[in-house]
Amino acid sequence: MKEIKKPYVILSAAMTIDGKIASKLGDSELSDEFDWREVHKLRTKMDAIMVGKGTILKDNPKLHIKYFKHKGCYRIVVDSNLTIPIDSNVIDYQPQIYPTIICTTENAPLDKIKKFEAKNVKIIKSGAEDRVDLKNLMVILSKMGIKSILLEGGGNLNWSFVNFNLIDEIRLSIAPWIIGGKDAISLVEGTGFDKMHQARKFKLVKVFNRDNYVILKYITRSK
Ligand SMILES: NC(=O)c1ccc[n+]([C@@H]2O[C@H](COP(=O)([O-])OP(=O)(O)OC[C@H]3O[C@@H](n4cnc5c(N)ncnc54)[C@H](OP(=O)(O)O)[C@@H]3O)[C@@H](O)[C@H]2O)c1
Repeated sequence: MKEIKKPYVILSAAMTIDGKIASKLGDSELSDEFDWREVHKLRTKMDAIMVGKGTILKDNPKLHIKYFKHKGCYRIVVDSNLTIPIDSNVIDYQPQIYPTIICTTENAPLDKIKKFEAKNVKIIKSGAEDRVDLKNLMVILSKMGIKSILLEGGGNLNWSFVNFNLIDEIRLSIAPWIIGGKDAISLVEGTGFDKMHQARKFKLVKVFNRDNYVILKYITRSK
């Protein structure tokens, strides 16, 4: 596969022992205070935090940085048709510190684009298919000077990053719980690969455990 110039992507997630990142009702309260601090520390080192539309609709996150001194960062939302509410926290909460970029497609309605732009949201169109063309998006973001992205889910966006081999590193916090449920979102959703030999391969580079939680760091071996 041809190498593209792209930001360094770290996938960060908290999951249960059975690989779920939210319950079947969308409850994603998996992290404790210690873990949140670690995630926020990681956010201070990144140029941008990225999530999919599903995460905005379910959690309405601020995607801000607490606990540590920081210089702000971009918030990036992947939303093919520009359907997130215009009063979402990523739009209204401290936009001067965390400028928001929404990555959409050519299908996004112009009137909606104008409404978001009126709130100083940068709109990037990437692709004309059903979903945002992530490979092309990586090139655009790289040209904008974004060198690092913390990918914070959810499961469907994670799958697309895995599928297109766009993940450089993974930081995984495993809570000692099992939630179950076929409708509970897993770390990686999507169609998946047919055979194990197609699986993206990673190298375990760090293991840390405390209070029954395990934190794992992997780097990619699939490039
Ligand atoms: N525990 C954790 O660490 C953690 C972290 C984050 C999220 N979560 C949980 O994850 C759940 C949300 O996950 P989710 O899978 O439903 O949603 P998601 O991955 O956040 O967003 C997926 C949506 O993004 C849009 N999208 C646009 N282009 C895409 C592309 N190329 N590839 C994939 N998606 C694309 C699609 O909607 P359109 O086509 O309509 O644009 C798609 O349905 C929530 O319950 C949240 O709480 C947990």
